[in-house]
Amino acid sequence: MFILLPLVVALLGDGRPRQSAPSPARAVASGAARARAGGAKEPLVARVSAARAVALRVEHLQTPLGIDAARPRFSWQMADPRRGARQTAYRLLVATAPELLAPGKADVWDGGIVVADSSVDVTYAGPPLAWRHRYYWTVCLRDREGRAVPCAPFSWWETGKMAEGWRATWIAASSAPLDTVARIGADGPAADSGTVPLLRRAFAVHGAPVRARIYATALGSYRLAVNGRSVGRGVLQPDWTDYRYRLTYQAYDVTPLVRRGRNVVGALLGAGWFASRMGFSSARYAYGPAPVRLRLELVLTYADGREEVIPSDTAWRAAPSPVLVSEIYDGEAYDARLEQPGWDRPGFDDRRWHAVVAVAAPRATLQSQNLPPVARLAEIRPRRRWSPAPGTWVFDLGQNVAGWARLVVRGPRGAQVRMRFAEILDPDGRNVSQINLRSAKATDTYVVRGGSTERFEPHFTYHGFRYVEVTGFPGVPGPGAVTGIVAGTALPETGRLRTSDPSLNRLWENIVWTQRANLYSVPTDCPQRDERMGWMGDAQVFWRTASYNMDMAAFGEKWLADVRDGQTAAGCFPNFAPSFLGVLSCGAPGWADAGVIIPWTLWRHYGDVRVVAENWDAMQRYLAFIGDSNPDFLWRKGKQVQFGDWLPAGSTRSWGETNTDLIATAFWAHDAQLMAQMAAALGKDSAAAAYGRLAARIRAAFDSAYVQPDGRAGAPFVNPDSVRTTYTQTGYVLALHFGLVPDSLRAAAAVHLVDDIAAHGWHLTTGFLGSAYVLPVLSDAGRDSVAFRLLRQTSFPSWLYEVEHGATTIWERWNGDHGDPGMNSYSHYAFGAVGEWLYRYLAGIDQDSGSIGWSSVAIRPRWAPGLDSVQASYHSVRGTVASAWRRRRDGAVEVTILVPPNASARVVLRAAPASVAAAPGARLEAAPDGSAVYAVGAGTYRFVVAPPLP
Ligand code: BGC
Repeated sequence: MFILLPLVVALLGDGRPRQSAPSPARAVASGAARARAGGAKEPLVARVSAARAVALRVEHLQTPLGIDAARPRFSWQMADPRRGARQTAYRLLVATAPELLAPGKADVWDGGIVVADSSVDVTYAGPPLAWRHRYYWTVCLRDREGRAVPCAPFSWWETGKMAEGWRATWIAASSAPLDTVARIGADGPAADSGTVPLLRRAFAVHGAPVRARIYATALGSYRLAVNGRSVGRGVLQPDWTDYRYRLTYQAYDVTPLVRRGRNVVGALLGAGWFASRMGFSSARYAYGPAPVRLRLELVLTYADGREEVIPSDTAWRAAPSPVLVSEIYDGEAYDARLEQPGWDRPGFDDRRWHAVVAVAAPRATLQSQNLPPVARLAEIRPRRRWSPAPGTWVFDLGQNVAGWARLVVRGPRGAQVRMRFAEILDPDGRNVSQINLRSAKATDTYVVRGGSTERFEPHFTYHGFRYVEVTGFPGVPGPGAVTGIVAGTALPETGRLRTSDPSLNRLWENIVWTQRANLYSVPTDCPQRDERMGWMGDAQVFWRTASYNMDMAAFGEKWLADVRDGQTAAGCFPNFAPSFLGVLSCGAPGWADAGVIIPWTLWRHYGDVRVVAENWDAMQRYLAFIGDSNPDFLWRKGKQVQFGDWLPAGSTRSWGETNTDLIATAFWAHDAQLMAQMAAALGKDSAAAAYGRLAARIRAAFDSAYVQPDGRAGAPFVNPDSVRTTYTQTGYVLALHFGLVPDSLRAAAAVHLVDDIAAHGWHLTTGFLGSAYVLPVLSDAGRDSVAFRLLRQTSFPSWLYEVEHGATTIWERWNGDHGDPGMNSYSHYAFGAVGEWLYRYLAGIDQDSGSIGWSSVAIRPRWAPGLDSVQASYHSVRGTVASAWRRRRDGAVEVTILVPPNASARVVLRAAPASVAAAPGARLEAAPDGSAVYAVGAGTYRFVVAPPLP
C-alpha cells in the first residue's frame, strides 16, 4: 500500500483536471499555460479534512464569461476523503453579489434543499436572467450522514447578450473580397497589397467605468487590442462553425485596459475559416460571400449603472496592415516595414486612413461561444538544429504538434526570412519534406523591419509540424531563433495512463498529442495538409478515447450543432462538419452515424441528458432518412458516398475489403439500439419501444444476409473484380460489437475472428472502423490474450510499429511511409481509438453498462503478460476514478483503486475469492467463472491477488 498509494495519489494529482500543458513541453510551458494551470485551486482529494463541493461549473465551463443559456446547467463534485462518501442533498444559491450567498439571503434564486445525489448538470430554475450580468453562485451539500457541509467558495458566471439586440453594425475595410494572392516576389511581399486590414476607433471615456466588456464576432477572424494591449487569449476567433447558419460571438473583460480620457479599440481582420480556401474545392468563401467583416460592442458600465456603448460603425477607420496574406493552409506573409507603431493607441494620427463601409449582416444566428477558445497551450524549444545547405536551417522540435513558430531575428531592413513547416524529412534525413501536405503551402514569411531584435508569430494560420526549415535568416540562427508554439482549443486534460512498458506509454502520449493537434474548435482529421476538416467517422471512433483524455462535454455540444447545421432537408447527416457540400457528402455509414453515436457517448460520459434532447429531432430525422430507402432493413449502398472501413492495412483499396452494405447495416442497427436507450432516457417510452423493434428487425435482416450457420460473418465484396465472399476481421468485429450475431453463434464468430488474426501472423487487417472496436470485442469474448498480443505487436501493421519507427503522433495509415503521399498524414487520431481499450480494459476504468455520468463505476483491471504495472486515472464528472495494478516480487498482483464520492463501484478481479485479500469495506458480491466481484463505495481500496494467477 505504502508503495502504491503515493503512486496513486501522484497519478490522481490533486483531483482536478490538468489544463492543457502537454508533458514533454511542460518544462517550458508558456506563461499563459502556467497561469491557467495555477488558476482556481481545488483541494487535494486525498487530503481534505471535511466534505465540500469543488469544481463548480456552469454549462461545463469554469466561470464562463458571456454565455447565452437562459437556464444554465450547474455541476460540481463532492470532495470527501471518507470511504462511502455520498451527497444526500444539495441546495443551490444564486445571487447578485457573493455576500448574498446564504440561505434566506440569495436575491436571485434559492433552489431549496433537494434530497438527491445529483451533481451533474442541474438546471437553473429561478426567475429569468438579465443579459450581460454577472451572477454569483454556490452549492451547499449534505453528506452521507445528512450533516450540512459548508457551502462551496462562491463561483460565478456572466450572461451574454442573450435576447438583447446589437447596436453595432457590421463593418468591413472595403466591400472587396480579400485578395489572398500572395504577392511575394524576389523583392519581397508587395507593399501595397493590404489584404488584412487594421481597423480602429478612438473614443473618450468621461469618468471611471467599473466594468468594461467587449462582445465581438467576425465573418473571418479577428485579433483585438485596447490601448495597445491585446484582448483575450483566443486566436482564430470566432470558432469555426457552419457560418451559413451559425456564428458565435466572444465576450472579453477589458476593464483593466480602459482608462479615463482618450482610448482606442483596434482590430486586425483576417480570413479565418470563413474566407480561407477550405476542403477539396480550394474555393475561398465556402460559407458565404465576401468581404470579411467585424461586429463589435465595447460596453462601459459606470458606478451609477449608466452604460455607454462603443459599437462598430462607420466612425471606424481602416488601413492596410503588415499582414499581406494569411490563410489557414498556406501560412502568413508579414512585412514588418509596414507596421504603424501606435496604431492601436490614442494619439495616433489616422487622417490618412480611410473610412470603413457598413456591410450586410449575415443571415446566420449569432450566439455566444460556450467553449474555451483556440489558444496557445505550450512552447517547445527545438531539440536539434542543423544546416542541410548553405543558408538553410532545419529546427526539430522532437514532437509533432499543431500550432506555429515564433521567430526571433535581428537583421537588415527588408531581409526576408521564410519558415516552411513539415512533419517529415526527405529520405536523406536532412531536408524537410512537404510532400504530404498536398497543396497546403504551410509557409510563414517575415520581412525584417531592421534595427533591434524582432519577434514574429503569425496571426491567422496554423500548421501541423515537427520540423521548421528557415531560409533567408540574416547570419546564423541561434537555438532561440525558433520556438514551437503549441495551440488548440484549450480543454482540460482529464486522463493519465502509465505502464511498465515505455512503448505503450509512448503510444498513449502519441494519442494525446494527436488529440491536442486536432481540436481546433472542430475535431479535425489532421492539422497539416489542405484538409483539416471535421470528418465524422474519425471523430466517432475516437470520441470515447477523447473523452477519457480531455473534457469533451462543451466541445462536443458545440460540434454537434455544426453537425445538425449540416444535415440535409431529407435528414441526411453530413460526412464532415461544418459542412459545405450538403447532399454531395452525407450519409456515409460509420461517418454520418456520428450524429447519433456522439450524443450517446457524451450523455454517458458526462451524465447530461440535455445533449440527447438537443439532438433528438435531428437524430430521428436521420433514422427516418435511412429507413425510408431501405424497407427490407438492409442498408444498401445508395447514392451516398461510402468510405467503407477506411484505410485498412494490406488492401489496395482505401475503403478496404469489407462489404459496404454489411458495414452500413451494422451501423444502422447500432444507431437504432442507441436511439432506444436515448428515447428511454428522455422518457419517450413508445419511441424507445419502436427503436427497439427497429433494432431487432435490422439484426434479423443482418443475420440472414451475413451470418452463416457456422458463425462466419461476411458477404461478397460488392466490386466487379471480387465476387467471392469476404470474411474480414472488420465484418466480425462490427457484427460482434453491435450485438448482431445470435448468442448461440457468438463464441464461434469470435473463434473465426481469432483464426483470421492468427492467419495474418497475429496482425490486423482492419481500417478506421474495425480497428476502433477490435480489442474490446476480443476482451469481451474472453480473448484478452489475443488483445494483448495485438497491442504489443511491433511488426507492420500494428500500433507499436509506428512507435518503433519514431512516431510522436498517430499516423493516418498503418504504414505511414508509402502509398499515395498526399494521404500520409502523421497526425490523424482515428487509429488512436485504441486508447479506449487502454483505459477501459487494460487499466479497467469503466462504467457499468447502465451507468450514466459515472454513478456506477466498474473497475476490471487486466494484468497482461509481460507487463509489470499499469496505472491510470480519469477525472470524471464525479471526481477522480483511478486504478493501478502491479506485480510484486512474490508473484502476487496488487490492485489499488479510487472511487470518487457520490459513486459506487464494482471491482472485478480475475481470481477466485479465496486467493484475494480484499480491503476492509470491500464486500464480495459474486464469484462468476473464476472471478471475484466486490462492491465498494467511494474511497481508496487495495486488493492483493495471490499467485498462481490465472
Ligand atoms: C480524411 C479522413 C476522412 C476521409 C473520409 C480523408 O481525406 O483525412 O480521415 O475520414 O477522408 O474517407
